[in-house]
Amino acid sequence: MENILVMDFGGQYNQLIARRVRECNVYCEVHPNLISIEEIRSMDPKGIILTGGPGSVFKEDSPTYSKELFELGIPVLGICYGAQLMAHRLGGRVETAPVSEYGKTPLRVRPDARLFKEVRESSISWMSHTDYIASLPEGFVNSAETEHCPNAAMENPAKGLYAVQFHPEVVHTEEGMKILRNFVYDICGCEGKWRMDSFVEKSIAELREKIGSGRVLCALSGGVDSSVAAVLLSKAIGEQLTCVFVDHGLLRKNEGDEVEAVFGPEGPYKLNFIRVNAAEHFYERLKGVTEPEQKRKIIGEEFIRVFEAEARKLGQVDFLVQGTIYPDVIESGLGNSATIKSHHNVGGLPEHVDFKEIVEPLRMLFKDEVRSAGLKLGIPEHLVFRQPFPGPGLGIRIIGEVTPEKIKIVQEADAIYREEIAAAAGEWRKAQSAGSNTAGVSNPPWLPSQYFAALTNMRSVGVMGDGRTYDYAVALRAVNTTDFMTADVSAIPFELLTHIADRIVAEVRGVNRVLYDLTSKPPGTIEME
Ligand code: XMP
Repeated sequence: MENILVMDFGGQYNQLIARRVRECNVYCEVHPNLISIEEIRSMDPKGIILTGGPGSVFKEDSPTYSKELFELGIPVLGICYGAQLMAHRLGGRVETAPVSEYGKTPLRVRPDARLFKEVRESSISWMSHTDYIASLPEGFVNSAETEHCPNAAMENPAKGLYAVQFHPEVVHTEEGMKILRNFVYDICGCEGKWRMDSFVEKSIAELREKIGSGRVLCALSGGVDSSVAAVLLSKAIGEQLTCVFVDHGLLRKNEGDEVEAVFGPEGPYKLNFIRVNAAEHFYERLKGVTEPEQKRKIIGEEFIRVFEAEARKLGQVDFLVQGTIYPDVIESGLGNSATIKSHHNVGGLPEHVDFKEIVEPLRMLFKDEVRSAGLKLGIPEHLVFRQPFPGPGLGIRIIGEVTPEKIKIVQEADAIYREEIAAAAGEWRKAQSAGSNTAGVSNPPWLPSQYFAALTNMRSVGVMGDGRTYDYAVALRAVNTTDFMTADVSAIPFELLTHIADRIVAEVRGVNRVLYDLTSKPPGTIEME
């Protein structure tokens, strides 16, 4: 299959690069820079992209690669650190830049450069570097500059080598997508045939072959990922599949019953469905634990333990399915990129698991690809497009120790928040349709892609009636994003926010303050922990 290889040198945007390549309908995988030259050859990529990274080519312990990489006859695009590495390896000079650039930076490209075909001569690029390419390797020509970076890009088209100091994968680089398309289509000669229908068919066939007559246990959370995984599996192997839904007591208000209504015996799917109510067990294990990574690990581990116990009750079970998706895999620390959070599906996996194998049919998909696969599988839109809810649930929306009291507070606050947003969005749609003749549903521009209430670990003084209060502060989070790797704060109307805050303080016991989180991602993450 036509593919592009992204080699990870520790950059935070590595998965974004892969995501952008897939937007070009070309399959793409991220591998650590430790991948061998033989492995690269056997993958037979149409092109290779070297990511950025925090290293410096001068430093002994910085990730590197042998010069052979540039002699494979496969086009290479170096980004940021990857660009410097290319220059350094091929005899150019990399130095500490007199002025480091960070953020939006005006860029001028040479219009005749192969990589910049039909790219505007002047545009904004996203820079983040302290070193720069001071002199080019032999055979290269300069192809772009910024005020403080004379070699903001270089290329050697005869050898298929291209390098950019800026980040084309980040939305702030205005011409970034065009540049990546030029590389993928024009330079690497990709045709762009990667589609979701082929993924669904291929996966069903592969799952059938892999599983044979084995029995499969699926971890169903009711979220988009595990729902798509479960339906994919049920299409592949039917009744060999048993879905277990662990209610860890860290779900949103009423969520356990809602999941049961859809996937249980009364729902539209013919799944073997088992609900395990394990809240007390999780609360016990989380008692006194405040460190986010430890909380994630405990929840992840206990999750597996509960499955093991359930599997034993079922008798012989060969496979365990999990709805892990590609961002989880990458963000949990692939090769040398810094671990931001260990997602509970991956990072918390214990070493000894009582199953023959773990099956993760969505492991190579990004979120929007999972949704698209869900639609192909005939899963109703309201399930496919529901906002994501993390595996560790409210455990990572409560900063500090998790207690039943805090869970109750965050559940109630979150329910009010969701109710009000849904009502306001409904009103907005009604007003829209009243004023227009066109049919169809549109959403208010501020409608967040993901929003939730979280409980800060902070208590502060307030006044209610004539009395002093000393209660918790709830934080409201709302972001707009398409890929969940970068996100902007949603501009929820101010009156709506204050109305929600009033209701939360009035109706939820133990809360006397409501805060709105204004941080985008990066530098923040979407969840609090
Ligand atoms: P962050 O907080 O990393 O979240 O910006 C990005 C997206 O991932 C979701 N998320 C998780 N999903 N297990 C999951 O299945 C997890 O451990 C986990 N942590 C974060 C988060 O809700 C957001 O949509």
